[in-house]
Amino acid sequence: MAPHRSHLSRVPNGQTELIVALDYARADSALQLVKQLAGLPVIFKVGSELFLHAGPALVRELVHQKCRVFLDLKFHDIPNTVVSAARQAAALQVELLTLHLSGGSAMVRAVREELDHIPELRPKLIGVSVLTSFDDVRWAEVTRAMTSHAVTAAESVLGLVESGSSWGIDGLVCSALELDVVRRIAPTLYTVIPGIRPTLGAPVQGDDQSRIMSPRDAALAGASSIVMGRPITQASDPRKVVERVLAELQVER
Ligand code: C5P
Repeated sequence: MAPHRSHLSRVPNGQTELIVALDYARADSALQLVKQLAGLPVIFKVGSELFLHAGPALVRELVHQKCRVFLDLKFHDIPNTVVSAARQAAALQVELLTLHLSGGSAMVRAVREELDHIPELRPKLIGVSVLTSFDDVRWAEVTRAMTSHAVTAAESVLGLVESGSSWGIDGLVCSALELDVVRRIAPTLYTVIPGIRPTLGAPVQGDDQSRIMSPRDAALAGASSIVMGRPITQASDPRKVVERVLAELQVER
């Protein structure tokens, strides 16, 4: 295996990083965007759709091209299964991977323990609390079914962040609106913020993100990283959009 620098040695230097979501159904579309963005300091996020189509081969190709990769498969299963999956992800040399905090302490701790045995490959473990697509009504359906009383999404996020931060995660996906609370409870966690829309540029067609923030405001609020998909993938000149966003992220904090 090629010599590899620990992902954890890439400690965020205070600068907000840009994660580009490769939300494509085909490897060639994803690789074309990667080519257009060559040399720019971004992390590429591979989610379920692209991974199910293009698989580990695409991740290997990205790593071969010296790209930083975020594998966003949001693991949630029995500890033994998630440990095995996380080991496979680490072998692919991804830098970040996601797992659901609702998988519980045994699952999260088991993954952390396993990956600590391979420090040179250990990806950052990014916890997912309540998906930002839930509103309080839909989330209450879940909590009522499980506990017979309704809990708001914000309460559950708070509880999961408080607990999850002691289980060994390195970071957390959260909405821009939760960033303040997360930074207060767990100031050292690496934060990943989706729902980001650039100040300039064409609006996203059929946008389903409602709680949005600009890259600059997210950087000022102390986000470790932001995730952007469609404002980049739908752009006629994605490189220009990314360069503009990277410039916006250069703020004094
Ligand atoms: O196209 P857009 O910028 O909305 O893409 C956002 C990316 O972040 C998508 O890949 C989406 O799956 C992901 N994401 C999100 N909200 C979350 C978690 C992940 O939008 N709560």
